[in-house]
Amino acid sequence: MKIIKTSLLAFLFLLPLVLADLRVGFYNATCPQAESIIQQVVQKRFATDSSITGALLRMHFHDCFVRGCDASILIDSTPKKTSEKSAGPNLTVRGFELIDEAKKSLEAACPSTVSCADIITLATRDSVVLAGGPSYAAPTGRRDGLVSNPDDVNLPGPSFSVSQALQAFTAKGLTLNDMVTLLGAHTVGLVHCNFFEDRLSNFQGTGSPDPSMDPALVAKLKKLCAAGNNPTTFLDQNTSSTFDNQYYNQLLLKRGILQIDQELASDRSTTGIVSGFASNGVRFSQRFATAILKMGSLQNSSSSHLLLFIAPVFGLPSPPPATPSDDMDIKRTSTLSSTTLTSQPLPTVVWITEKSKKLAGFYPKSPLLVRAIPSTIFFDPSMIFQPLELFLLLVVLVRRNF
Ligand code: HEM
Repeated sequence: MKIIKTSLLAFLFLLPLVLADLRVGFYNATCPQAESIIQQVVQKRFATDSSITGALLRMHFHDCFVRGCDASILIDSTPKKTSEKSAGPNLTVRGFELIDEAKKSLEAACPSTVSCADIITLATRDSVVLAGGPSYAAPTGRRDGLVSNPDDVNLPGPSFSVSQALQAFTAKGLTLNDMVTLLGAHTVGLVHCNFFEDRLSNFQGTGSPDPSMDPALVAKLKKLCAAGNNPTTFLDQNTSSTFDNQYYNQLLLKRGILQIDQELASDRSTTGIVSGFASNGVRFSQRFATAILKMGSLQNSSSSHLLLFIAPVFGLPSPPPATPSDDMDIKRTSTLSSTTLTSQPLPTVVWITEKSKKLAGFYPKSPLLVRAIPSTIFFDPSMIFQPLELFLLLVVLVRRNF
């Protein structure tokens, strides 16, 4: 009876707690310099390559829409197990080396403290400001994911209709207004010919280009793409490197590059939002800050290690440090750098979690850090571990007469 009561209490109180622990200044006590370290790395890069803003915005979007903002997009494929990186929509995601660089500096300053999911979020925020976009306080405290599966990458495509795209956004708890606002990120960044070439000739079997594209732009893009090698152009044909509302003005001039972009200007449900933003850049900027914060708070409710957040709430004692095992070396590499991660003492619940994973032959060095899934794992461990973790947590609570 007592166990049932406790289970009910735990479910009622812990679940919202688990999902709501992001807060501004999460690292104030544990790594006060975290945000400035990331900012410096972004500033240095932006000084020589302003296109990094587009790269980071897209990475943040592709990370948050797949299993929540958990940096699962950073996990490398191994010969035995492919990761999100190998999914079609992610093949042209750029900027991984910047995240590696920031992570390296952060590890030197505050080992095993700052999650890669927070690095992506903060670096994106800083790059938006540098491009002229809004400045906003970003809550942190995200945990890095354990699972990265290309089959989970189910992002909207460039030829989606507004209503099809909206389904993908509402599935994440985002509104139509959020969607039109977030697509405003296409005010910066690059697009490859293969994503819009179908609009340039024989559009939907008509034998002609997409009539919703300015013929002068059609001619320009045809010439560009004919050069071969899938070249790129700017998503915003006016102020391509500045984060402003010109993207919306371009849509009103039939100069959107992707079909989904252009449809925003003609679809009855979105045309008003587009003209509103086109005429009021300040409003767009403010709304963008709100919408990207909403996107940045997407979490995967089935993620097993969300229990990380609970231990400090209950003041549970610290367990012994986790002991890394070399045969399960957890490592993330990119073409430019390699970051091997270290372990640190874990809160009790995480320690229990880690024990349960070890029992099943799954033992990451530290739940705080990005890691590749050992090649022996071919399933989503959260499916099994979440109930197990909850059970172990309840045992701890009952034994403490909670
Ligand atoms: C219906 C939703 C969306 C679709 C179909 C879509 C599609 C695309 C496509 C096809 C590209 C070109 C990629 C390439 O050629 O490499 C692109 C680029 C980009 N997307 Fe989106 N996108 C969507 C929403 C978003 C959102 C919500 C954001 C951010 C908040 C975003 C940010 C960007 C940025 C900044 C780029 C430029 C990337 C670069 O410079 O490398 N997109 N998008």
